[in-house]
Amino acid sequence: MTRDPNTLVGFGTLDDAGVYRLSETQALVQTVDFITPVVDDPFAFGEIAVANALSDVWAMGGTPLTALNVVCFPSGLDPQILHEILRGGLAKFAEAGVALLGGHTVDDPEIKYGAAVTGLVHPAHIWTNAGAQVGDALLLTKPLGTGIISTGVKQGVASAEAEQAAIHSMRTLNKAARDAIARVGARACTDVTGFGLLGHLSHMARESGMTAHLRAADIPTLPGALELARAGVGPGGTARNRAYFGPNVTLSPGVEAALADVLYDPQTSGGLLVSLPKEQGETLLADLHAQNIPAAIIGEMTEASDGQIIAA
Ligand code: CO
Ligand code: CO
Ligand code: CO
Repeated sequence: MTRDPNTLVGFGTLDDAGVYRLSETQALVQTVDFITPVVDDPFAFGEIAVANALSDVWAMGGTPLTALNVVCFPSGLDPQILHEILRGGLAKFAEAGVALLGGHTVDDPEIKYGAAVTGLVHPAHIWTNAGAQVGDALLLTKPLGTGIISTGVKQGVASAEAEQAAIHSMRTLNKAARDAIARVGARACTDVTGFGLLGHLSHMARESGMTAHLRAADIPTLPGALELARAGVGPGGTARNRAYFGPNVTLSPGVEAALADVLYDPQTSGGLLVSLPKEQGETLLADLHAQNIPAAIIGEMTEASDGQIIAA
């Protein structure tokens, strides 16, 4: 397949969204993402699915403009549930300033909801997985553990506090975080979703030709996530992520097994993970904390050595 010269980001680099150049100053950012329910409340599910779908545009440094709903819904189910899901989604499109132009619904035994999203980015300011440099700080804008807590809720073993914290985190748009990152500039950025922190970070390290060093103690986790992981609660995706990315990850013996589970935990609507010069990292951290965004600097990029990630 010949690649269109205007395709700036396409298949192959495991980036969050595709980017297509329109002119010297404008490029389209396009992505599609839809998920199965992660919470019981249909309105909250709609909010989360849209926050999750929009995130890939912000993760590329772009501004989402328009969206199309993607819906799978069983014909036998109460249409009021679908109405609530779409109302939740619309609330998040409105909050993001994104125009919903339409969508498509398919009769399907399992509920799924999300969106195809189109945005704009300046071709010179695209945040890909490549571009991280030696000495960069690694900053994460949301705590980890949504997969573990969602599983705990389904099994009836998660506390109300853990459930509420996870829902709050998942429905929070990455818009303010993206705007703060844009003020200082990013060398590389992605959002943390299904591959977990270690999966998405390993993509960034690989595409940038770096090894990431994580300080395990500095990695933020949602309340209750570690306790549930210690009790053996977690989604099937954790083991799949560990099997796939584990060979490129070195965890020191001091890293607790439950924390390792959280680092591999698949996230829904997770935070932005950004690589940027240390000084800008401190400025960004202060900016995010001033906006009550629970960000943390979790490690740094180093010369490529053994594997893609070392956590101690
Ligand atoms: Co993404
Ligand atoms: Co995505
Ligand atoms: Co990116």
